[in-house]
Amino acid sequence: MSAPFGRRSCEVSENRASAGYRVFSLLDPEGPQPAPGQFYMLATAERWSGGDGRPFLPRAISVAETGPAARGVRLDFLIEGVGPGTDRFCELEPGERVWITGPLGNAFSEPRQQHPDAAGAILVGGGIGVAPLALLRRGFSERGVPHRVLLGFRNREHSGGLELFCSAAGALCPEVRLASEDGHAGHRGYVTDLLATILAGDDARSGVVYSCGPPPMLEAVRSLCAAHEVACQLALESPMACGFGACFGCAVPRPEGGYLRLCVDGPVIWGDEVGPTAADADAGARERDLRL
Ligand SMILES: Cc1cc2nc3c(=O)[nH]c(=O)nc-3n(C[C@H](O)[C@H](O)[C@H](O)COP(=O)(O)OP(=O)(O)OC[C@H]3O[C@@H](n4cnc5c(N)ncnc54)[C@H](O)[C@@H]3O)c2cc1C
Ligand code: FES
Repeated sequence: MSAPFGRRSCEVSENRASAGYRVFSLLDPEGPQPAPGQFYMLATAERWSGGDGRPFLPRAISVAETGPAARGVRLDFLIEGVGPGTDRFCELEPGERVWITGPLGNAFSEPRQQHPDAAGAILVGGGIGVAPLALLRRGFSERGVPHRVLLGFRNREHSGGLELFCSAAGALCPEVRLASEDGHAGHRGYVTDLLATILAGDDARSGVVYSCGPPPMLEAVRSLCAAHEVACQLALESPMACGFGACFGCAVPRPEGGYLRLCVDGPVIWGDEVGPTAADADAGARERDLRL
């Protein structure tokens, strides 16, 4: 899926609370339908600068869900306010405008692209990383791809987006299982505990794992999958300034040498494309992500 050239202005149609996160929607009159795993570079049209008046760079945000619009497509984004950019997105009002570039990056692939006889998919999301898995889950559901969904959160304040995993009737989809470190929802502990149990099952090798979340969680998923010889795709994050391959700000090391530019070679990569260092690259720098 290639993005239209340049940035375009989109109207905010909604911004609502979702537990500790926010979900806001943009009406994109001319953009293509994004694929799960892709992201947009976003900047608000007004008040997009610091106290010194210097404008911020756009911020990379995954598309979490899409829907029909009178023209084009509605894009939903799940946001955790962690700094000036995401805090500004959290306070967007309907009618405001946001500059977008995208959809950018590559998307998650189908399980059968990996194994012709793949039994299905296991989706593993942590914290704000549940966002791209919502659109992925809906696609699997519509195409009849068997799947299980494991979602983990640190606590109630650092959670949200569950309604994106609900049926039209509003009930959490039956294939979804939850974990939380504080025990407020589902299994008390890490979401990777749930994954370890599933991967210990007999039919695990014929599935494909899809994951997005904080670096330590992604490294745990990568290493569990490697130990069980299960293919996995990981949606990684790194600081992004341009989003289309020009600045090298998003480079992460490849195990065999050289670098991947996550904005164009990712953000979705196969588990064996990165070593432990890259999957956990910014764990030390990112204290907020050390726990889900
Ligand atoms: C492909 C992609 C998809 C994303 N999707 C989402 C999404 O759906 N929802 C969402 O809320 N966020 C998402 N993010 C994360 C978001 O773009 C960053 O957290 C962004 O920097 C937030 O901007 P800010 O101005 O609010 O905070 P900043 O001031 O940029 O950062 C806040 C804090 O986080 C630290 N930090 C931020 N980014 C990084 C990083 N990459 N490595 C190490 N430390 C970092 C900073 O040092 C600071 O302490 C995504 C990022 C990428 C690359
Ligand atoms: S963000 Fe500029 S090269 Fe990737």
